[in-house]
Amino acid sequence: MKNKKIDKTPARLDFIQSATGLILAVFIMGHLLFEASILISNEAMYKMTIFFEGYYFFGETYPGIITFLAAAVSVIFILHILTAIRKFPASYRKYKIMRNHMSTMKHEDTSLWMVQVITGFMMFFTASVHLYIMMSQPSNIGPYASSARIVDEFMGPLYLVLLVSVVFHAFVGLYRLAVKWGFMEGKNSKVSRKRFKITMYVLIAFYLIIGLASLAKYTYIGMTHDFADGERYKSKTIIMEQH
Ligand code: HEM
Repeated sequence: MKNKKIDKTPARLDFIQSATGLILAVFIMGHLLFEASILISNEAMYKMTIFFEGYYFFGETYPGIITFLAAAVSVIFILHILTAIRKFPASYRKYKIMRNHMSTMKHEDTSLWMVQVITGFMMFFTASVHLYIMMSQPSNIGPYASSARIVDEFMGPLYLVLLVSVVFHAFVGLYRLAVKWGFMEGKNSKVSRKRFKITMYVLIAFYLIIGLASLAKYTYIGMTHDFADGERYKSKTIIMEQH
């Protein structure tokens, strides 16, 4: 009998989608925590910023590192979109079938899939704008510069939409990954599914709270200071040479 060739492309694309999704979810968990350093103090956020600019390794700041990081994240983001977009309902008719399916079956995991489609679509625009700004203005980050962007440059509403969509998307995505690849699945898959779901809700609530609190703090700083002259935060302990 002739050996039939199996097309491995769909499985490969599926793997790329899962792997890039996992990397992005881990990235965002770190990102929102680092960025919440503003909740501790302006100084803490400033130190976090110069850490990523390489200050503690090279003794000077290199904002180009941020450009590089943002470019790398953009490549992973685009790969994730390209591999995920195959699964979007391609026509209104397909969408209607999906909706009927969801309401008759009340299948929670199918509804979670819909959450991914909607939040993914929202991020398509909002995350692109954010990543582009991070790539093009890497030296414009800090307690004052970031607050000025949020208030004076009206990035606040965009960040609010991005925050809600990315938090839901990341943790619903991680839940779906755990179920799909059987990660840490115990003997009773119903029980582990329930555990995954509770963890998912707890993480969503936690990240929404710290994200909203940080956004509120940046907004407060932006509204109570006038940064029209481009004033930058000055550290009390680190004296930076002006280039
Ligand atoms: C290497 C790439 C990235 C860098 C360097 C970066 C950096 C930053 C910085 C410095 C802020 C503070 C506000 C500002 O200065 O404008 C911020 C806010 C934010 N970023 Fe990113 N970001 C990156 C990628 C992403 C991605 C891929 C997402 C989501 C898909 C994201 C979601 C957010 C959200 C939601 C906020 C507002 C946070 C809040 O509400 O507390 N970022 N980012």
